[in-house]
Amino acid sequence: PATRPFQVPLPIPPVLQPLRSDTTTDYYEMTIKPGLAHILPGITTPIWGYNGIFPGPTIEARRGRTTVIRQINALPVPVSTHLHGGKTPPTSDGYPMDLILPRDPAPFQASLNDASMRRFMGTNGIGHSLQMQMQQTKEYVYPNDQPASIHWYHDHRMDFTGPQVYKGLAGLYLIRDEVDDALPLPKGEYDIPLMITDRTFNADGSFFYPSLDPTLTTTPGVLGKYYNGMLGDTLLVNGAVQPFLEVAAARYRFRLLNASNARVYQLALSSHQSFVQIGSDGGLLPAPTLRQTIRISPAERFDVVIDFSHVPVGSQVVLKNLLGDERTTDIMRFDVVRQTRDESTIPTTLAPFEVLQPSESLTTRTFQFFYGLGMWTINGTYFDPNRIDATPRLGTTAIWEFTSDGNHPIHMHLVNFQVLSRDGRAPDPEDAGNKDTIFLKAGEKARVITRFDGYRGLYVFHCHNAEHEDMRMMGQFEVI
Ligand code: C2O
Ligand code: CU
Repeated sequence: PATRPFQVPLPIPPVLQPLRSDTTTDYYEMTIKPGLAHILPGITTPIWGYNGIFPGPTIEARRGRTTVIRQINALPVPVSTHLHGGKTPPTSDGYPMDLILPRDPAPFQASLNDASMRRFMGTNGIGHSLQMQMQQTKEYVYPNDQPASIHWYHDHRMDFTGPQVYKGLAGLYLIRDEVDDALPLPKGEYDIPLMITDRTFNADGSFFYPSLDPTLTTTPGVLGKYYNGMLGDTLLVNGAVQPFLEVAAARYRFRLLNASNARVYQLALSSHQSFVQIGSDGGLLPAPTLRQTIRISPAERFDVVIDFSHVPVGSQVVLKNLLGDERTTDIMRFDVVRQTRDESTIPTTLAPFEVLQPSESLTTRTFQFFYGLGMWTINGTYFDPNRIDATPRLGTTAIWEFTSDGNHPIHMHLVNFQVLSRDGRAPDPEDAGNKDTIFLKAGEKARVITRFDGYRGLYVFHCHNAEHEDMRMMGQFEVI
């Protein structure tokens, strides 16, 4: 069904309230369940959501305080929840086979009994949660031992991440800290998350997704013509179709997240203003940087300020996607409706920033992200839970080179990296800061440097085009 843009106000996902808090920890509970969303006029859309809503509730965390989330799976399929960007112990990282089973696990027994999967289950402490699966729950522990940053949590079930995220299993997770709080940046109602996604709708209002097995039980994957990824024809922000937001003539901080399965956006403002980028995936940049446009690939985040203070009251600014067609160009609209006294400023320095030195790197590894074997492969093979592709030592630094035969947003769990070069030249503007996802175009070779800090254990890295990921464009490293 076609929709007209700018008809609905931007929704802000509710902030999840803890069940209780003590001196070190906030305890939450979430039920992963079906729900009904009102996305299109006069019709409902069945979704799967954390607490039954899409996007899921936003989780507000503080650096140095632990977040514990007990998740209850009330869906008919297994799930595994990953905190994207989180420096998380392996048992809480949402490893693809570390599943929370549904009430009736029988239909999934075949895949769980798969010998290669079962062998893995005993290792790394992850098998532990297999004991808990009868309760259909798992407790995720997030230490939040990392700087203020924009993260998101989403489903990571082996082979079925694409359809399950597309049905709605994604939410924002914001870490705050003292460094960020002390900056005179826009705050409170002037600090707004924008989760950008694309969806296609069936005539009955349901989401269209080209699964080979729509019950998501046994056969993973999508129809052949969607091998490159599922692109929706309708843009949503925070779950609403091309919404509008009434703003004051003031600076606003926007937490941009591309939670789309495969679509890459090139963001620009119809007023030809620049964005002031203040942060990236891993937190604040050392200094703000002007960006006329921002390319944002799946799973990337950009922390930006847009300054409406010189925009006349009564005018409108459209957030555009320069890579879109007629239906996928207008993302949302800011309607400047009132004057205000703007107390915020953008300081010239933001946060301390440690530049990783190539001289500290002990190893260089190359990973080729190519089509192959009728799937999507890394170094000519697809993901196998029994194969470990790298075993870095805790605390060591390495250079990883990624090469690409197409558009691949490449994501590493656990760590941040800094982009050293692309094809031997300087990184793209979008590569600035501490990243966990880098967008590679066809034929490109990027060099990134990372330090394997945090925890020992098994973590995946993969293409974040969700359809490529489900076709096993994934590898794993074990920090030893
Ligand atoms: Cu956003 Cu491995 O995921
Ligand atoms: Cu890919």
